[in-house]
Amino acid sequence: MPDLSKLRVILRMRFYWLPPPKTRFGGSFLFLKNWYNRPVINFENVSKKYADNSVALSEVSFAINTSEFVSIVGPSGAGKTTLLKMLLAEEKPTDGKVYLHDIDVHSLSGEDINQVRRKIGVVFQDFRLLSHKNVYENIAFAMEAAGRRDEEIESDVPHVLELVDLSNKIWNFPHQLSGGEKQRVAIARAIVNQPEIMIADEPTGNLDPSNTYDIVQIFKKINDLGTTVILTTHNKGVIDSIGRRVITIQDGRIIKDDPSGKYIL
Ligand SMILES: Nc1ncnc2c1ncn2[C@@H]1O[C@H](COP(=O)(O)OP(=O)(O)OP(=O)(O)O)[C@@H](O)[C@H]1O
Ligand SMILES: [Mg+2]
Repeated sequence: MPDLSKLRVILRMRFYWLPPPKTRFGGSFLFLKNWYNRPVINFENVSKKYADNSVALSEVSFAINTSEFVSIVGPSGAGKTTLLKMLLAEEKPTDGKVYLHDIDVHSLSGEDINQVRRKIGVVFQDFRLLSHKNVYENIAFAMEAAGRRDEEIESDVPHVLELVDLSNKIWNFPHQLSGGEKQRVAIARAIVNQPEIMIADEPTGNLDPSNTYDIVQIFKKINDLGTTVILTTHNKGVIDSIGRRVITIQDGRIIKDDPSGKYIL
């Protein structure tokens, strides 16, 4: 009789960052970072002009390695959200290429684009929870959409809520949660399908300093577990407390790319 728990661990290892069931979301998988130290995202001379001719990005080039934590900063209208939309293939570049590993994201169509999107967990400033579903159901819904089995849903939802320290609110509806708690649910939902990359567009924009601090700590923890994290923010405190790579954009151009950045604008 094979040891089923071991088999489960091995299967889980396909997702490369999820620790074994006992230590799930708790153990450190830092050693895996070295295995995967290669670009996961590559922007090559990406420019974007919207239909009304407004230039959102101009010849933007950068690479992000697996397990990096990168903040993208810049004033309102600089092109931060546009850049994330290029990665999610929600907008097409006017020029240039966006690669996820070796895949030219914008050469794909239909189900192939969906497959790429499933590698990326997304968190927004305004949480975007389903108001008629409770915390458990909001997360379970994302797992169902990804074709996960009922038994996985039952076991993974509580684990992921542990990671964001929200086990005690599992049956609450969104209107019964604070802003910080809603964002923690949104993060749990974004990571529950074990994406390779987590992107967060101004995730602390609607939060007070204490909740902002907690959310940043959660992103750090997710990154420590091996997930590549890309976050946009206007918040100087967030950048300084992360203390990692910062790409600064202004008028659609990268003006600084600093490995242990400070907020310079
Ligand atoms: N759908 C669109 N159609 C036309 N112009 C757009 C569209 N979306 C964005 N833009 C323009 O592209 C530029 C970059 O916008 P983007 O939303 O990427 O900025 P941002 O850095 O995310 O700003 P913020 O910090 O305010 O969120 C802006 O000048 C904006 O007006
Ligand atoms: Mg934006």
